[in-house]
Amino acid sequence: MRIIITDSYEEMGMEAANIVAGQIYLKPNSVLGLATGSTPVSMYQRLAAVHKTVGLDFSEVTTFNLDEYIGMSPENPQSYHYFMQENFFKHININQDNVFIPDGMAEDMIEEGERYERLIEAKGGIDLQVLGIGQNAHIGFNEPDIKFAATTHKVALDDETIQANSRFFASVKDVPRYAISMGIKTIMMAEHVILLANGKNKAEAVYKAVCGDVTPEAPASILQLHRDVVVIVDKEAASRLPAAIRGIHIVKK
Ligand code: F6R
Repeated sequence: MRIIITDSYEEMGMEAANIVAGQIYLKPNSVLGLATGSTPVSMYQRLAAVHKTVGLDFSEVTTFNLDEYIGMSPENPQSYHYFMQENFFKHININQDNVFIPDGMAEDMIEEGERYERLIEAKGGIDLQVLGIGQNAHIGFNEPDIKFAATTHKVALDDETIQANSRFFASVKDVPRYAISMGIKTIMMAEHVILLANGKNKAEAVYKAVCGDVTPEAPASILQLHRDVVVIVDKEAASRLPAAIRGIHIVKK
């Protein structure tokens, strides 16, 4: 693991955008794995700005999102389909045929999971996966569990996740209880991974991901076993990391 600690949320997004842009310059037809939520927004804004100012070209890029709420149609403003269009896709020159997000309206979630996995495989696998992290150390919607779920699957959201995500809804009652999410194996198969986190409320989860035991009770801890992960966190999210790591860019193996 390499760790980059930034002074601010904006800088975190900038560091992440640099890695994503580098990936696209090197391989214009890259396959990106993408996350929703508050964390990656500054990265998306930066990438859109780089597209606008220096023409970073997304025309050959393919994207696979991590997850979607079950029962939410793409037109629903709270769906992750909608989020991605609003926060990223409508600001860049991506070909909509190359955009993939699990279908939260599918009738059979087992079939949908299998279809999604086949699509990723058909596109040659994910080159670069962008991840946020939940306060309970989930990645995608892989919640703490007694085992790591492998492939794209239906998940019941934890109470902590429902509470955390209620900020996007009128009330906690409106937060969907189920989602469909890439599995841990899907994520671990990506060539490169970047994990982003900002804010004090992510400090404990970041600590578990970087320094804790590798356990399905802290799903992000599995990333310690991936060969190429860059953790990009602002100083609040880094505040629980050992002093030897804090304040220094790029340290831990
Ligand atoms: C979103 C996702 C989740 C979020 C995590 C953090 O697609 O897969 O794992 O990355 O819940 O969410 P925010 O960034 O809103 O704190």
